[in-house]
Amino acid sequence: MAEIVIVPDRAAAGALVADEIAALIARRPDAVLGLATGSTPLPVYEALRSRLAGADVSRVRGFALDEYVGIDPGHPESYRSVITREVVRPLGLDPARVRTPDGTLDGIEHHGEDYEEAIAHAGGVDLQLLGIGTTGHIGFNEPGSSFASRTRVKTLTQQTREDNARFFDSVDDVPTHCITQGLGTILDARHLVLLAFGEGKAAAVAGAVEGPVTSSLPGSAIQLHPHVTVVVDESAASRLAHADYYRYAYARKPAWQGL
Ligand code: GLP
Repeated sequence: MAEIVIVPDRAAAGALVADEIAALIARRPDAVLGLATGSTPLPVYEALRSRLAGADVSRVRGFALDEYVGIDPGHPESYRSVITREVVRPLGLDPARVRTPDGTLDGIEHHGEDYEEAIAHAGGVDLQLLGIGTTGHIGFNEPGSSFASRTRVKTLTQQTREDNARFFDSVDDVPTHCITQGLGTILDARHLVLLAFGEGKAAAVAGAVEGPVTSSLPGSAIQLHPHVTVVVDESAASRLAHADYYRYAYARKPAWQGL
């Protein structure tokens, strides 16, 4: 079972997860981080600034989950730009060691395989941050995605395009396709940390954590992984049937276990 941690707010979630990442980097200076975009991981990146100040992060590596296809990499809302702005620059990471899937159209049919090779060459991802979409997607693996899938081009659902329209001038400007790590790729990471905040995520969280394991709700793939931490606020936890047990278990967690 995933460990479910219910926290009061986004800042508490950011602090908890940032502590874990800082400890990982202290232990392993060339740690491989799996980076997520969207609003959800921002408190983690924010909290990491102070925790990594003065630390040697020159060898830290990173792989983003996904990217839009056909977007100019210099567009402010390309995930390349977002990762540069929110993670690479503020944390002082080496840009050459942080990759996003290549969403440029030229050679797109090979970009998924190239990305898989790069992750494998780095030795795999140590800690993968995840958000969850209202459709239950992780990365951009929309409902129906194979649990064995690897990095590939996918078509975004209209719901996801509408959810992400807030980052663009209009929904019509949101690309129709993406390139995303597959569920199989994500499940290969050594530790999955899924965060979710707000009532709008409550159904997706309940489905992912307590629902049947089904490709209809791609986030439920986390139930197949041996080391998962789900960090949610009270609203995102509001539909969890066993929330009281999760609170009880976390309050009695042996200190030596870590996250
Ligand atoms: C986006 C991203 C996902 C993200 C999810 C939730 O479309 N591709 O990686 O987890 O949807 O986004 P947010 O965190 O903004 O709610």
